[in-house]
Amino acid sequence: MRVAILGSGGQLGTDLCRLLANSEDELVPITHRDLDVCDREQAARMLKTLQPDVLINTSAFHKVEACEEDPERAFAVNCLAVRQLAMACQELDIFLCHMSTDYIFDGTASDPYPEEAAPNPLNVYGASKAAGEFLVRNSVRRHLIVRTSGLFGLAGSSGKGGNFVETMLRMASEARTPTVVTDQIFSPTYTEDLAGMLLQLVRAGANGTYHVTNSGSCSWYDFAETILDVTQADIHAVPCLTADRPSNVRRPSFSVLENGRLRAEGYQPMRLWIEALVSYIEARAKSGDPRTLSMVQA
Ligand SMILES: NC(=O)c1ccc[n+]([C@@H]2O[C@H](COP(=O)([O-])OP(=O)(O)OC[C@H]3O[C@@H](n4cnc5c(N)ncnc54)[C@H](OP(=O)(O)O)[C@@H]3O)[C@@H](O)[C@H]2O)c1
Repeated sequence: MRVAILGSGGQLGTDLCRLLANSEDELVPITHRDLDVCDREQAARMLKTLQPDVLINTSAFHKVEACEEDPERAFAVNCLAVRQLAMACQELDIFLCHMSTDYIFDGTASDPYPEEAAPNPLNVYGASKAAGEFLVRNSVRRHLIVRTSGLFGLAGSSGKGGNFVETMLRMASEARTPTVVTDQIFSPTYTEDLAGMLLQLVRAGANGTYHVTNSGSCSWYDFAETILDVTQADIHAVPCLTADRPSNVRRPSFSVLENGRLRAEGYQPMRLWIEALVSYIEARAKSGDPRTLSMVQA
């Protein structure tokens, strides 16, 4: 298969490219510099020229506070551009795999959200991604929509200027104490694991909407404490509530995704987020990061 990756410089895109480069499939990486997805004509031209069998769209404007300030851009990147890509894929018979988010849900559930739960986003980012999903379903017959949550990957999220793990490690190295919410629950997910599962789904010809996250769930505070514990940092996080931190953005308090279709279709559940976190820390230490080297040597 010839597989084009949009957003190939991002944290998920980087892991997808690495896995594809070591496979029999042909990789076509497309960075933001190569193509702004909002440029409809260039996007259609590029897909016509490249003729991939599969397009995996990981590109997004997902800095949640910035989306709230700039809804036009959020909808341009996460919704309108996605519709154009989907229409081009339909015309050129390209299978579209599109990434979405747990933030399409309102967080009022007390059990993990199944794939068929009704979206009810609380913020502009979630609304733009939910709208993008609807337009994919409407515009291209052969599609896969994968919702995920709380990503951490070795490339670091370019859109957010690093990821949460990196932020905690940086604060620890500067002996600064992070204050982290205890009342937002989610499933942290390692992009390497997600990329592996995405490629399995794509190769199996999976169609429709899937939830794909590492197993288990925690609060951002628990996640922070585990990161600091695993890396034997000298600091602890300070717990707080969402209400203690004024923000222009409403966020779901519970956005755990039931990986129901994966289970029903016999896929191996993704490993626990804690195991994935340890692998991430080991991988970054092996790549020579002094902040985590001691942990691997211990
Ligand atoms: N990160 C999370 O915690 C999280 C959680 C749930 C779902 N998701 C979804 O998962 C996907 C991947 O997330 P990620 O963490 O891998 O993101 P990321 O690291 O920020 O990567 C996104 C990539 O898209 C590129 N991009 C942004 N705007 C673009 C545009 N207009 N045209 C072309 N490329 C553009 C970015 O390039 P530049 O950096 O150069 O702009 C970046 O390389 C996204 O769809 C996101 O909505 C993410």
